[in-house]
Amino acid sequence: MLTETEQSLSEARPNAIDFDRISGLHYLGNYVRRLPINLARMIENAYDWEHLPYVHSSSFSSIDLIDSGTWGWRAKIGLPDGAPASHQLLDLLVESDRHYWVSTVFSGPGTGIEIHTQATKVAEEEIEVDVRFYLPEAPENETGAQMILAYMQQQYATLYDEDQDLMLGRQGALNDRQRWGANEPGSNDVLVGSASELDPKTVHTVEMENGRFCVRRYQEEWVVHSAVCTHLLGPLDGSEINEQGQLTCPWHGYHFDLRSGENTEQKCRALATAPELIEHDGELYLRPV
Ligand code: FES
Ligand SMILES: [Fe+2]
Repeated sequence: MLTETEQSLSEARPNAIDFDRISGLHYLGNYVRRLPINLARMIENAYDWEHLPYVHSSSFSSIDLIDSGTWGWRAKIGLPDGAPASHQLLDLLVESDRHYWVSTVFSGPGTGIEIHTQATKVAEEEIEVDVRFYLPEAPENETGAQMILAYMQQQYATLYDEDQDLMLGRQGALNDRQRWGANEPGSNDVLVGSASELDPKTVHTVEMENGRFCVRRYQEEWVVHSAVCTHLLGPLDGSEINEQGQLTCPWHGYHFDLRSGENTEQKCRALATAPELIEHDGELYLRPV
């Protein structure tokens, strides 16, 4: 996966933030954003290297992890088509108790760029991130500097739009899981709808006492599966079924066999057992199992 040069560059990298380095870099400017989430979700997002090519597919085409730990992560990243060179080596060092992290490109396009982020709580479910861009050298002139800054601010606006959706989705999924965990398993059938009138092209999402499930048409019959990924609770209701009969989670790309619920990569548990789908007097119901 890594060339010999990449391997030695990677091994030479420190696993702790060196704040003294900033004095030798050129400070270009920053991007400040308020987000309606808590610090826990933000820090979780910083550590979550795996979402980059899925949630940020216009910025990253692939990611291969080199190493990770409580210090952060280091990876080889594929840049989207059209980028001058196709790969970057990048690491992200985290000081989680200070809510501070630094990403550094140490090989490939943009080598030497450091991006320092300070997250700060401003209200119960609101934070502010201050993203500061440092370059290895000052741009040739002010116009060039303004152009690079505008480009980076735009890129970070997009990244945070995408991350905001992910983090809000994750917080909502955690709240759902807590609520379902507190419920008694239900015993009543839950109506999905009339078998002849349900739109076969739509995924019908049904809330039960213990989870959320999707009812949809597949190979000429109605099937039911959990709407919640077992990795980090990503939503499966928007997932198309691929040719192998698998669902793909939009957050980290894990695949699940529609029929068995098993995770194809064997990285996480099988999906929650789906309720039984029954038809009675022309109506479809989900029956708790
Ligand atoms: S939440 Fe990570 S793959 Fe689904
Ligand atoms: Fe992200």
